[in-house]
Amino acid sequence: MNSRVSVIGAGNVGASLAQMIVQSGISDCVLFDIMEGVPQGKALDLSEACPLWSSASSIKGTSSYEDTAESDVVIITAGFPRKPGMSRDDLLTANAEVVSTVAQNAAKYSPDAVFIVVTNPMDVMTQVAFVKSGFKHEKVIGMGAILDSARFRTFVAWELGVSCQDVEALVLGGHGDLMVPMPRFTTVKGVSITELLSADRIDALVQRTRQGGAEIVVLLKTGSAYYAPAASAFEMVKCILLDEKRMLPCAAYLNGQYGVNGYYAGVPVVLGRSGVEKIIELKFNEQEIADFDKSIKSVQELVQKLGI
Ligand code: APR
Repeated sequence: MNSRVSVIGAGNVGASLAQMIVQSGISDCVLFDIMEGVPQGKALDLSEACPLWSSASSIKGTSSYEDTAESDVVIITAGFPRKPGMSRDDLLTANAEVVSTVAQNAAKYSPDAVFIVVTNPMDVMTQVAFVKSGFKHEKVIGMGAILDSARFRTFVAWELGVSCQDVEALVLGGHGDLMVPMPRFTTVKGVSITELLSADRIDALVQRTRQGGAEIVVLLKTGSAYYAPAASAFEMVKCILLDEKRMLPCAAYLNGQYGVNGYYAGVPVVLGRSGVEKIIELKFNEQEIADFDKSIKSVQELVQKLGI
């Protein structure tokens, strides 16, 4: 039997992700949205592209949770995106309601799934999904750090005039304006960028990464980024379905690691079929500890504001 991946939210991120799933042929896909007609229409369109992609994946569009039953992976993209002038945190209450409903319903029909949360503010929404699903924390993971790291990789590659394929980067902490790009752990073919770029240039790239989402919101005017967010979620889906055990930066539930107890934040994890299989603990220097703590504090404040 083929794997089944359910994408909840058939908007920009959800539909782009569904395309990546069926185009790759890695799994069957269920595309869910409350906006009757939209998931059905997009799924039909994607089905009609499958012969051209030589893909054997099937895709079903639906507004009924029953159709998501027995999914291996469920990705939550449902909710509202940012508009110019909004931070990810401005979406807090409205998206918490959406994610609560989605997590409860999806968990009911797919009790063995791994959940990936994309909806912003992502670290907090991952916590909401964890609480409402009743799942073990290893099976509820947030997408954010892969995206932030991909943005950092892109900017480093442009700065140095090298292929982005040769750049690896780590951006940790919360997926907000206080995220923590880690230049010491950002390398070009194994060479840290601290050896290749001046401190001023690194600072500029760090700032651009922190503002990476907002830069796109300003350009688009009517919504937020979706191709790179979808590609980041797809990377996680692939890693889980194929049990790749790659080390990827994801929002994981911290149980004492990095001095944090009971909150989600972006850290390097080993990702496999059962979700987060291991959290890698890096030794931070003083500045990194201060930046990480500040970032976590902002996540904690939002979680406390929601009272979950
Ligand atoms: N159940 C299912 N789908 C819902 C619900 C719900 N309760 N509420 C809203 N949706 C759907 C909307 O109908 C819409 O189709 O979620 C979809 C969101 O799509 P977009 O508005 O295009 O937003 P998108 O750009 O995909 O971003 C989604 O991901 O990156 C984050 O910040 C972004 O929180 C936002 C989320």
